[in-house]
Amino acid sequence: MRILITAGPTREYIDDVRFLSNASSGRMGYALAAAAIAAGHEVVLVTGPVELAPPEGCDVYRIETTDELRERCLELFPCCDGVIATAAVCDYRPRTRVTGKITKTGQPIVLELVETSDVLAQLGTQKEHRWIVGFALESQDPRNNAMRKLRMKNCDCIVLNDTSAIGALTNAVEILSPEAETIAVYKGTKQHVAERLLELIKDSIHAKPRRA
Ligand code: CTP
Repeated sequence: MRILITAGPTREYIDDVRFLSNASSGRMGYALAAAAIAAGHEVVLVTGPVELAPPEGCDVYRIETTDELRERCLELFPCCDGVIATAAVCDYRPRTRVTGKITKTGQPIVLELVETSDVLAQLGTQKEHRWIVGFALESQDPRNNAMRKLRMKNCDCIVLNDTSAIGALTNAVEILSPEAETIAVYKGTKQHVAERLLELIKDSIHAKPRRA
């Protein structure tokens, strides 16, 4: 398989030196990339800024903003068999990016935030024969929220995890099907979870005929 993997956080700039982001380490995506390479697959890794070295053998594309992530993914998805989207994408960006550096005035300032593009949902509209595996990071009503995302983003399955996964070495995930069934539950190091998830994708998702 040739697999597109998104990993790490995105950044949304307030001015040329300050940005909004999140605590994603990129570990889940990088573990998936390493496990996929080890299993003999080709990997196209689109990664936000993280402190990890990409596994040898991947095609690596570095991005910072959600717009850059979207452009890269739209360009690369057509030549892949599927996508695993682990990136922790900023949902909001400042309406305008100030050129230079904002100077203090002694007064409060207000940041107006607008929603960023939903990259996975856009890939979902261009899916055709390809498969889509989304991640859902939930803190409340997890199954319902994860299922809403699966449908909205046209996923073949969604990997539900909670906020303790952010920045951690381990993960505990439940994988849900479009019929809202639990296909699998994995727990352990992100490497362990990545290896199991890739086996599941190869045997049950990639092998299965799909509707566009
Ligand atoms: N995702 C994306 N583009 C976005 C937001 C999310 O591609 N702008 C992807 C993530 O990489 C993940 C899935 O969509 O695979 C779900 O991400 P998550 O952060 O759990 O949900 P959101 O859709 O952002 O919704 P919310 O933050 O409101 O829960």
